[in-house]
Amino acid sequence: MQATAQAQPNIALIKYWGKRQTKLNLPAVGSLSITLDSLWTRTYVRFDSGLEKDEFHLNGQLDTIRCRRVSQCLDLMRRRANISYCAAVVSENNFPTEAGLASSASGFAALVLASSKALGLDLTDEELSEIARQSSGSAARSIFGGFVEMELGHCKDGSDAIAHPLIGPEEWPLHVVVVITSDRTKIIGSTEGMQRTSLSSPYYQAWIQNHVSDIEAAKHAIASRDFYALADISEHNCLKMHGLALSTRPALIYWNGATVECMNCVRDLRASGTAAFFTIDAGPQVKVVCAPSETQKVMDALRNVPGVLCVLNSCIGQGARLL
Ligand code: DP6
Repeated sequence: MQATAQAQPNIALIKYWGKRQTKLNLPAVGSLSITLDSLWTRTYVRFDSGLEKDEFHLNGQLDTIRCRRVSQCLDLMRRRANISYCAAVVSENNFPTEAGLASSASGFAALVLASSKALGLDLTDEELSEIARQSSGSAARSIFGGFVEMELGHCKDGSDAIAHPLIGPEEWPLHVVVVITSDRTKIIGSTEGMQRTSLSSPYYQAWIQNHVSDIEAAKHAIASRDFYALADISEHNCLKMHGLALSTRPALIYWNGATVECMNCVRDLRASGTAAFFTIDAGPQVKVVCAPSETQKVMDALRNVPGVLCVLNSCIGQGARLL
């Protein structure tokens, strides 16, 4: 009754921000992402009749705070398997946790896959995606590799609010440069941030209303491998999400000074002919998508931006897998 799985974080090019239902964690908008390759979460799960409660270790430390959310995810799996055993979960991230690098996406995708295997459940990727979504919306996308679309879905039970792959990583092998501008854990997580936004941003309805055209524009750019069209819609959607966050009360300011300087750097690079664009999630890190031939130039330029702590490079990767 044990298994280990690995999943990679994904970076949303068209963002999920807002929920239409919290119990099943149903998104208010569809989203579109790329799964990374070199950042990962590895998670070992063992169900054990001798355990009195779930135990969660993250990066070698017992983590009783995050264990609550881990247990809620395990409950979904236990219900499916009709088993009540508690579990020991040991997880490792090779990148900063809860710093706007989508650790909840890779974390819950790996947890769902490892625990399904440990429980002997034979689930499809769509079923894994649906379960992962209930723990964290973005985790539904990390089940798959390459370019991934998360459906808004219409069913009340959430069965169609799942992700599906658009094209595989090898079909458009772009690179992602991850720029770390802070190693602090974020103060307001996405779940709370989204809730605050939906309650107080005057722009929230407009955000919901025009996400479909952003998704369509991104899908069209991907289908025709049009880098500059993808750059245009991705930066627009990212800045729109942050506009929404900034207009929330109290305001959600996820950026620091270096974040803004990195955006300027990427825009300057693009203006001078370098195929690169940025996107930023609920944290100060900047992810720069670029053509593989431009990676070194992009890394060198960003490394020199004041306040940048380190720069990582990743290809687009595969979905969650058993180890
Ligand atoms: C800004 O998936 O972390 O990264 O469903 O509440 O766990 P919950 O939210 P989460 O939100 C991700 C928000 C985002 C955009 C995105 O990944 O689409």
